[in-house]
Amino acid sequence: MDIVSAQDPGATAAEALASEDAQRATNTKTWGGGGFLRWYTRSRLRPAEAVLFETHREALAGRVLELGCGGGRLTGHLVARAKAVHGIDIAEDMVAYCQRRYPSATFARGDLRYLSDFGSGVFDSVVAGFNVVDVLGDNERAELLDELHRILSPDGLLLFSSHNLACAPLLAGPTHNLTRNPLRFANRVLRLPRSVPNHRRFVALQHFGPDYAILNDEAHDYSLLHYYIGRDGQERQLARHGFELLQCLALDGTTVAPGESAFGCHELHYAAQRTEPSEA
Ligand SMILES: C[S@@+](CC[C@H](N)C(=O)[O-])C[C@H]1O[C@@H](n2cnc3c(N)ncnc32)[C@H](O)[C@@H]1O
Repeated sequence: MDIVSAQDPGATAAEALASEDAQRATNTKTWGGGGFLRWYTRSRLRPAEAVLFETHREALAGRVLELGCGGGRLTGHLVARAKAVHGIDIAEDMVAYCQRRYPSATFARGDLRYLSDFGSGVFDSVVAGFNVVDVLGDNERAELLDELHRILSPDGLLLFSSHNLACAPLLAGPTHNLTRNPLRFANRVLRLPRSVPNHRRFVALQHFGPDYAILNDEAHDYSLLHYYIGRDGQERQLARHGFELLQCLALDGTTVAPGESAFGCHELHYAAQRTEPSEA
């Protein structure tokens, strides 16, 4: 059974709330426990990231907040461009590693759900790489965007990536789409004792809302529930929270225009600018 057809389309509001609670619990448990450092220490930018970092180099020259800095995959590139970089991550091992690796930047253990310690307008850019904002449910994502609007300076820049809803039909459980590459096949099979029960548990908590879905995908042995949204839905969501979409790119760095789905590209990269509410 594929992941999408396993979802009951008649989910109630209570089920939606249960899904959001479960998403917070499982994602916080998985990431907060640490142990994923080795996945995120390489520093090569992916094509969409390279295009966005170059296009927005002026905004990235100021004070930058990095959400979910991980093993500093993006941090070194930000440190090379910015006046000041502050990174937060929920995992202690990620923070300790970044502190050692980038002594000119500052880091703290923190949850991107709680940014109230930062003053208003104190950052010129916020960067959230590798779909980190997708750990949040729909209500939490709305709150995050409001907080980012508050802590960014006027015209501040938001760079982030997010799972592409158009690819939801391509998601499959751990026993499907087993690769023909023998090494990867062996790796997938060895992980089945962990991924199968994870998937069985979390696929039941998936949720489909207007413009988005919360889905269990293969990341880290199916131990996470991720937010998926398409390009146009993301533009509407940004506008509701005071951001203008400047660019949406597929992973290969090509532009995804309004109305395009980028089917087959599992994550989309966004650049958005903080706007002031218009005076009515
Ligand atoms: C997919 S990794 C991306 C790491 C890095 N941004 C990159 O691009 O390579 C997600 C990172 O976000 C962190 N993270 C997950 N949930 C978080 C939360 N609620 N608040 C802050 N960091 C979080 C994880 O510990 C992990 O380091």
